[in-house]
Amino acid sequence: MCGIVGYIGDKQAAPLLLDGLKKLEYRGYDSAGLAIVGDDESITVAKERGRLSALYEITNGGEAIQGRVGIGHTRWATHGEPNQINAHPHVSMSGRVALVHNGIIENYAELKAFLIGKGYTFTSETDSEVAVQLIDYYYDGDPMEAVRLAEAQFVGSYAMAIVFADREDEFIALRKDSPLILGLGEGENFIASDVPALLKHTRRIIRLGERELAVVRREGVAIYNSFGERVEHEPINITWDVESAEKNGYDHFMLKEIMEQPDAIRRTVAPRIKNGRIELGLNKIDADVIRSLERVYIVACGSAYHVGMVARYAIERYAKIPVSCDLASEFRYNDPMVNANTLVIIISQSGETLDTLFALREAKIRGAHTLSIVNVVGSSIACESEDVLYTWAGPEIAVATTKAYNTQLALMQLIAVYFGRVRGHVTAREEAELIAGMEALPDVINKILADETEIHHLSADCYMQRDIFFLGRNIDYALALEGSLKLKEISYIHSEAYAGGELKHGTISLIVPGTSVIAICTYDPLWEKMVSNIREVKARGASVIAIAKGEHRRGTTGADHEIILPDCADIACPCASVVPMQLFAYYTALMKGCDIDKPRNLAKSVTVE
Ligand code: F6R
Repeated sequence: MCGIVGYIGDKQAAPLLLDGLKKLEYRGYDSAGLAIVGDDESITVAKERGRLSALYEITNGGEAIQGRVGIGHTRWATHGEPNQINAHPHVSMSGRVALVHNGIIENYAELKAFLIGKGYTFTSETDSEVAVQLIDYYYDGDPMEAVRLAEAQFVGSYAMAIVFADREDEFIALRKDSPLILGLGEGENFIASDVPALLKHTRRIIRLGERELAVVRREGVAIYNSFGERVEHEPINITWDVESAEKNGYDHFMLKEIMEQPDAIRRTVAPRIKNGRIELGLNKIDADVIRSLERVYIVACGSAYHVGMVARYAIERYAKIPVSCDLASEFRYNDPMVNANTLVIIISQSGETLDTLFALREAKIRGAHTLSIVNVVGSSIACESEDVLYTWAGPEIAVATTKAYNTQLALMQLIAVYFGRVRGHVTAREEAELIAGMEALPDVINKILADETEIHHLSADCYMQRDIFFLGRNIDYALALEGSLKLKEISYIHSEAYAGGELKHGTISLIVPGTSVIAICTYDPLWEKMVSNIREVKARGASVIAIAKGEHRRGTTGADHEIILPDCADIACPCASVVPMQLFAYYTALMKGCDIDKPRNLAKSVTVE
């Protein structure tokens, strides 16, 4: 949801910033821009609507702009249409200050009226231009002072970087609710919304804390809290290899990330199995807390919410605790019934999704225990939760999640069994069997990935469809939701997911001869019922692809095509079943010529409400 970068050092800033923006383009791609401070006390701005390639062109790869301090932005539009004028950076009327912003200044209309009263005029429709003008209004030679005075009037969320025409020796970065990272170099320093933009230059990073402000200079970075006091943070050393944030020969990050799932799941599961038992290493949510739980809420957005939908069944089954699964954007406004005997489990790949972060804060205010399942180490959600368990999926770049979804799912299954054991519902023998099922999972997924040609062919049959329906019951319904989301978000084919038994209550009227239906039938207790649902839609002329588990099911689904998964344990099955649906979405979008890693209107990390 918008990516920002900043640089100060002895190199030319523009090419370096463009390179950083390339790594952040997954966060938004409506427009891109740069603001560079020259040694003649001027700010040069270049910005263009559309993809970063347009900015590359107008700046000749950055070479057209000289200067050793600058900021850059790739935009996911919120206020104002995605055109050149609304693109960042925004410059104050005087030309003294330029700013890039990720987030929303909610009270921008009120601030704008105030500034108009002071004689300021505006060119864009954005909230961010209001922010830069307000900083300009307060600027009297002290950048930090001006930013702090303006910030005191902002209502909303922001990660910002600000340059000043007469300050070639520093720039300012600050954040509230949106992520911002400082990259520490030798005689040069960087800021970025996410780590991949920094990896080429440094592995020493600091995640700026909530409401902190950094004065970034060549020789170092000074960080201040919201009271203006100096604070010190120990830098974190990033250990990923650069390749993990590159495509490595794959055409798309999405396919690479699908293929990485066996390893990602192994990395997530293996360290949590010790001497044949699940050990999660929780600090605050100890056995007494787990035994005291009367209710669990799982709260998340999008695919992470779909993980919660599957995990609900596992927690109720193994740990015998009632579970509600809520969309984060609804949870905080629902007056949730949360108390000290409630655990709120927050699931988020980025750890920065604003709706999810706000839901976490609401849960804490209401006195619940909080546990987050997060991929990005040190992210806001990870830091603010009582306990955190990381999914070790590695950097996920494609906008549509695959490996993060699957590692979240694997980890949630472990949590369900662990809670079950602590609460006395899972015996040591049962635990050992369940662990064996999870340990075998990477090989099961490897087999599915090795045999993907059939899925590729099925996509070729379906890519011209207008609508595709996904059906499933129980856990398979939760998986259908994810299969449907994956398909629609990257291929733009209209798709809906239905519980098999629910179809006849209205939606079956949409099934006409030729409609494509994908029926997930891996949940054995409801096998016959799903087969009946396949018959129902086939009777109305649908063309059905069934996803079933085990060779013994081949030829028994009644569907037109079957994808037969290798046999695997029930506990591992959801993580395996989702893989053919990810591949189906990928190949369908590929056939349609869609921009798979950057689907329209979407962004990877949604840091606005
Ligand atoms: C869909 C997708 C999104 C995210 C959602 C939550 O493929 O990736 O639906 O799952 O935006 O993001 P995180 O997990 O970062 O909180």
